[in-house]
Amino acid sequence: MQHLLRSQQFSVEGLTKLYDMADRMRVTFGRKPDRQGMRTFLAGTLMHAIFYEASTRTRFSFESGAQHLGMSVVSTDNAAQFSSAVKGETLEDSIRVHAGYAPDVIVLRHPEDGAAERAAAVVDASGHACHVINAGDGRGQHPTQALLDAYTIDRHYGRIEGLTVLMGGDLANGRTVRSLAYLLGKYSEMRIIFVSPPQLAVGADILEYLDRHGVRHDQVSDMESVLPEADVVYWTRLQVERIADRGFAHEMRELQRASFTIRARHLRLLKERTIILHPFPRKGEIATEVDADPRAYYFHQAENGMYVRMALLFSLIKELPL
Ligand code: NCD
Repeated sequence: MQHLLRSQQFSVEGLTKLYDMADRMRVTFGRKPDRQGMRTFLAGTLMHAIFYEASTRTRFSFESGAQHLGMSVVSTDNAAQFSSAVKGETLEDSIRVHAGYAPDVIVLRHPEDGAAERAAAVVDASGHACHVINAGDGRGQHPTQALLDAYTIDRHYGRIEGLTVLMGGDLANGRTVRSLAYLLGKYSEMRIIFVSPPQLAVGADILEYLDRHGVRHDQVSDMESVLPEADVVYWTRLQVERIADRGFAHEMRELQRASFTIRARHLRLLKERTIILHPFPRKGEIATEVDADPRAYYFHQAENGMYVRMALLFSLIKELPL
């Protein structure tokens, strides 16, 4: 794999390899003497992390993971303001210049759909052998988030096949749900239940893809009626920054507060083994009173992000088949 731009690029076989590699990263990292040795794994390689949009987990897990593997990292966390973009430079020109400085990996987050694809095209045309990783492009995709989500599910249940995954929140504007749905579509016997107000329903492209891959799916707007069916509850925030109409955003926020917020009283509706995931950041759509429940798995999920990204960096740079 040269670039990681969308979840559809993976096969179940490749995913299995990646999860195994993530396990190895986690275990090795957990042993203090071995942790030091990891610094040789990717020594002498370079990452450019270019973030045109806010990020906490994605950027820090990529950068920390890279440094634990001995990579050098050059990054900007606010490229929209602290790069020449502020002077009107196009993404294409910026990426072409980045490629010339010969990073082994460019990790890109950008507010426009398709930005990572555009960056990859520029890198390919430049003749530099550099991997572009999509760390979120507008409403498009966030494939590395999907990888860590799926890894977390797989390691909890020992499988992904046959599970019922409930995905809720802003399904129209969130890219994590899109990438995870595409990834889950690779597995057999899946069922996905989408829970949202009709105004924030998941895109038709996702539903078509799931149909083509034989994934059973439903769309509902009553959260409580479907919570008992879920093996995984994947909850997301309202993507206010992608909603231009302030009145509509306000209306949706109120609706989310009233009908799409997971509270302690909902926990009794869940099965005992069910896990609750959230890509973060949350804005109240999972009440903090839920955090103490062992099924609240989101902090554990966020920690997995670093090991999965380490595994991805290692696999790409060492050109292991994925
Ligand atoms: C997500 C994103 O950027 O799409 N954040 C993340 O990387 N975990 C989710 C979000 O912003 O809601």
